[in-house]
Amino acid sequence: IAMNVLIIVSGYLIGSIPFGFLLARFWKGIDIRKHGSGNIGATNVWRTLGKGPGIVVLLLDALKGVTAVMLAKQLGTNDLVVLGAALAVMAGHSFPLWLGFKGGKIIATGAGAVLAITPVPLLLALLVWATTVALSRYVSLGSILAAISLPIWVALFDRQPSILVFSLLAAGFAVWKHASNIKRLLNGTEFRIGQKKS
Ligand code: G3P
Repeated sequence: IAMNVLIIVSGYLIGSIPFGFLLARFWKGIDIRKHGSGNIGATNVWRTLGKGPGIVVLLLDALKGVTAVMLAKQLGTNDLVVLGAALAVMAGHSFPLWLGFKGGKIIATGAGAVLAITPVPLLLALLVWATTVALSRYVSLGSILAAISLPIWVALFDRQPSILVFSLLAAGFAVWKHASNIKRLLNGTEFRIGQKKS
């Protein structure tokens, strides 16, 4: 039990590392929360600082998810702690200890975590993401539709009830974190790729 609690807490702390914020602050000297969508995620770093920094944040944020899940797989004493660690790393990214609990939208971190749990559904969700973004030029719409599709892919290709419940929670969490994007999509003010604003 003590080990599993430690794994969940570590997951939260790993998720709490705000790579987007840190990179913008110490590499480019800006507060990413005051630019673009105000989000600390890879999309907003890309939008504000360009492709290179965006990709670095995407990879580092995804790595947080992979790391938390691999740690739980190695040290956890049951399967549920792996899913708990995945939710904890997303919670950490979304409510980071170091930034007044105001964090990101869990797409990159969640993708890393889900990749390490059930790769086929994650790759299919990624396909939904890429297709939507390519057609609409809205990253947020891609993220929302990919999140909604994830439980469907899990139901079709993974079929473990615990992972299905986990994917429903993760999808709900991700869609909820996109509330401001949904508002902007509905009133036509959402950022499109290729548009710069601050
Ligand atoms: O992964 C985050 C993305 O879906 C939206 O980012 O900065 O446009 O709110 P942003």
